[in-house]
Amino acid sequence: MFKERAECDKLSTLLTQLNEHLDAFQQFDHPDAVVDAELWRLALDKPVPEKGIGAENVIAEMGEHVIPNGSQIAKPGCTSYITTAATDMGSIATLAGIVASPQRIGLTAFNYLEDLALQWLVEMFGLPSNMQGVFSSGGSTANLIGLGAARQSAFARLGMNPADDGVQRVCKIYATDQSHFTIHRSAAVLGMGRNSVVHIPVDSQLRLCPNALREQLKKDKAIDAVPVAIVASAGSTNTGAMDSLQAIGEIAREYDIWFHIDGAYGLPGTLDPQVHHLYKGVELADSITVDAHKWLGAPVGIGVTFVKDVVALQESFNQGNVADYIRTTIVDSEHADNSMDSLGIPYHDMGVELSAPTRGTIVWALIREIGVEGMRARICRHNEMARRVAEQAKQHKNLELALEPTLSICCFRYINESAIDLNGLNKKIHRQLMKNGTNIPSTTMVGDKFVIRPCFLGARTDWHHADDLVKEVIEIGDAIIKNEINTRDNKEN
Ligand SMILES: Cc1ncc(COP(=O)(O)O)c(C=O)c1O
Repeated sequence: MFKERAECDKLSTLLTQLNEHLDAFQQFDHPDAVVDAELWRLALDKPVPEKGIGAENVIAEMGEHVIPNGSQIAKPGCTSYITTAATDMGSIATLAGIVASPQRIGLTAFNYLEDLALQWLVEMFGLPSNMQGVFSSGGSTANLIGLGAARQSAFARLGMNPADDGVQRVCKIYATDQSHFTIHRSAAVLGMGRNSVVHIPVDSQLRLCPNALREQLKKDKAIDAVPVAIVASAGSTNTGAMDSLQAIGEIAREYDIWFHIDGAYGLPGTLDPQVHHLYKGVELADSITVDAHKWLGAPVGIGVTFVKDVVALQESFNQGNVADYIRTTIVDSEHADNSMDSLGIPYHDMGVELSAPTRGTIVWALIREIGVEGMRARICRHNEMARRVAEQAKQHKNLELALEPTLSICCFRYINESAIDLNGLNKKIHRQLMKNGTNIPSTTMVGDKFVIRPCFLGARTDWHHADDLVKEVIEIGDAIIKNEINTRDNKEN
């Protein structure tokens, strides 16, 4: 009799076995993965096995060698880049989707939640109600999708179809050097070329200068380039800077150019009453992105693009000629006898993915669990933590604030009159923070200053992590200076 070798009906038993290892990981007291790298590589580095070892043994191996050597990103004190671990509900809803709806398609409750979650995000972030969203794998793809629609719209006005015929004219996308590099990547992938991205100068707060944009647009009117989009950041990755959405949006309307807002990180910031006013102008956008896997606590792999012009979106990504294996199977939803008779809401025609997980269910579950109120509390807490670090950086004689925080990123550095090379010193401080492995920020450049850059984002990241980080930076900085002075004195004597 046929017997499938892979377990297909022991999920809860196997999960019980796995849970023990996950619980242990979430104590966050394992040594960092680099410590025993040789050991776990040796244990895992095996040739492809002819015979399997069975599910229980795979979980045991995972528990012994893989899970304990996982990522620092999950740690509550990790404030590096703009990334975090999922909340429990993020993991649970992911698993539910994997088990009960392996694709987002079909006339299922999962497909319905894809739609509902997008509507909830529109409502929660105060976006125009005529905006249509589509999930994708993250901010990179979300930007690509938004700019794909922008490209389609810009060329359609010229009677051209870039999705069919390619880009046959020089294009321009207006952004700043603080824009995420996936704007440039999108331009490349969409056939416009990275060089189509024009960097508009920024002000002292690293925000796009509207006047400089206007000047550039005036200049470019004279040349034969197609203006495809103006891109604003609602929270830049580097420092959290917010471009003036209102001023830029108005220029976009005046020049009739597609207005794209990259809110992958910062769009949820609109829930914080202290910074809500900075989002004025969001309604002028033609496309906006946000990542659920950043501030909302979803597992990685969930970005969203919202657009006003769904036709431009569909024409950019839908080939029109549906493949036979789909065309011959589907009937229109109203005549469906079975949930497989229809693909459901055709999100597969609004982006680059056909197969996709049920991301909407995850976002729905995250919001359903704690409500907008819970999301707001998290976002306010993190923004306040950045302000708290800024306050300490302003007050402590050995700290310097590099830039007033706008959202939950604070750029600061250690200073000391005995230090000769402050950039070098702060690099050393960061190296030591990484070695200690409790408070884990990343770094960036603000002008010519190398700075420590925590981004408070994770649901597990709490008030004390702000104070702990500042304290540790001072302690490490003081120790390095003391050591350097001793070495200098010893050399002189
Ligand atoms: C503003 C912004 N846009 C886009 C991205 C890319 O997002 P993802 O890493 O989800 O692809 C990021 C990532 O940090 C970001 O901060």
